[in-house]
Amino acid sequence: MIAHRGGGKFAPENTLAALRKGHELGFRGVEFDVMLAADAVPVLIHDETLERTTNGRGNVADTPAPVLGTLDAGAWFDAHYRGEPVPLFVDAARLCLSLGLWANIEIKPATGHEATTGRVAATLAAQVWQDAPPGLVPLLSSFSEAALAAARSAAPQLPRGLLLDAVPDDWHARMTALGCLSLHCNQARLDERTAQGIVQAGYGLATWTVNDPDAARRLFAWGVDAVFTDRLDLIGPDFC
Ligand code: G3P
Ligand code: MG
Repeated sequence: MIAHRGGGKFAPENTLAALRKGHELGFRGVEFDVMLAADAVPVLIHDETLERTTNGRGNVADTPAPVLGTLDAGAWFDAHYRGEPVPLFVDAARLCLSLGLWANIEIKPATGHEATTGRVAATLAAQVWQDAPPGLVPLLSSFSEAALAAARSAAPQLPRGLLLDAVPDDWHARMTALGCLSLHCNQARLDERTAQGIVQAGYGLATWTVNDPDAARRLFAWGVDAVFTDRLDLIGPDFC
């Protein structure tokens, strides 16, 4: 079980508060999204634009990290989280390490910044986690094959996962080309035969976003290794 965007539906997504919430609720693994600010500093955010999850306006890729750090990324979720900033990736990484939280770093490049985002995120991850115990080595994933290729060049020692919505017929060739160890797909687009084919080929298989316990049970019965969930209450750390 992996807490989606840090704390699922229990904290403002992609904030340090969300990572703390996932940990507080007993999760041992979290997923979060990493994008580059205008000054090429990696930060945690999902959308290319600021409006949905902050009090800022415009594009993340046009806004320098020091400005992002002054925005409120918590109040939209709940007044309790007012003042929670858009976190730097380096701060999120250090927090995960200090809490003993395993991280799936989803490289989420703004359009046109695919390779740079992959390189920068992987380089920083390799630095922060260089002395991490094996169980805490993070997994880099992305929908962007250009980002994954750049991540592989920058930090070949870090494991990679390929994000796909529906699993295409050529999934195996794509995984091989990028040296990916796991495939992460949309649970609503996955069928049992495809799941078993991926698992039997020796790859890890994870699905998002699984918020229904019955669906989670069905996916695990198909051989899925992990699910990303927002419902940290219904699909808890020891759910099976
Ligand atoms: O990494 C799994 C999942 O987070 C992918 O979708 O849009 O929530 O980043 P999204
Ligand atoms: Mg994500």
